[in-house]
Amino acid sequence: MTELQPAENLYDYPHYYDLVYGSDWKAEFEFLLHCFEQHALCMVSRVFEPACGTGRLLFRLAKKGYQVSGLDLSKSAVAFCNRRLARSGTSEQVFVGNMCDFQLDHEVEAAFNMINSFRHLDSEQAARDHLRCVAATLASGGIYVLGLHLSPAEGTTTDGESWSARRGHLCVNSSLHCIDRDLEQRVERYRMTYDVYTPTRNFQLVDEVAFRTYTAAQMAELIASVKDFAVVETYDFSYGVDQPIEIDERTEDVVYVLRKK
Ligand SMILES: C[S@@+](CC[C@H](N)C(=O)[O-])C[C@H]1O[C@@H](n2cnc3c(N)ncnc32)[C@H](O)[C@@H]1O
Repeated sequence: MTELQPAENLYDYPHYYDLVYGSDWKAEFEFLLHCFEQHALCMVSRVFEPACGTGRLLFRLAKKGYQVSGLDLSKSAVAFCNRRLARSGTSEQVFVGNMCDFQLDHEVEAAFNMINSFRHLDSEQAARDHLRCVAATLASGGIYVLGLHLSPAEGTTTDGESWSARRGHLCVNSSLHCIDRDLEQRVERYRMTYDVYTPTRNFQLVDEVAFRTYTAAQMAELIASVKDFAVVETYDFSYGVDQPIEIDERTEDVVYVLRKK
């Protein structure tokens, strides 16, 4: 029988998060390398990930020789990330912090935030503060690669996704389903679950997460309000480096490449 466990915050279960999402990294990783090469006007050697979670991309960048840094609100995710960075042989560490209020003690040439974490910021002010903090940390000509789902003005909106992963005797099925969308208030609430199977126990962890919504126009207005950034290219979540996209009313997933002026 499956036990039901309401979870305070599913991001505080980094082992399960990383099992499910950590295996999905290659396309994003190669895409990031391309963006560093193609869009930054300076040589990228230092990279930063706000809301880094378990650092599934960061530790691979560290192994490739980049100097990495990051922050996340979740203490458990930060601890998980730091243990793995140490195992990868890097002395760099990420820290617990809020992505709309931080300062690094060094500049970086690139920052990235790939899968909607930015939309956890629940107000225009917080989103603007975040972009300003990232801009302040970037060297001139450096880039911020920012991936998120927009609310399309036409066509259908994706309401949920499911993933599954197994390692040894541990199997985790994860799902994210929209339970409420209010485009006036600009908030979507999602039910997020992990179904965890071990040889001795099956249980389900349940949480709710909120995302701020953005139409293409709202996102354009936000970016324009942060004078330090210019959009230099846009892609989608297929990460096709030769297939930049033009955002229109139907666009849902988009990766903005912002460059610091
Ligand atoms: C979907 S996970 C993404 C993790 C990682 N970036 C990745 O690509 O796997 C979202 C992360 O955002 C973090 N988060 C949410 N709000 C935050 C905030 N205001 N400041 C820092 N981290 C935040 C959560 O703790 C969680 O680890």
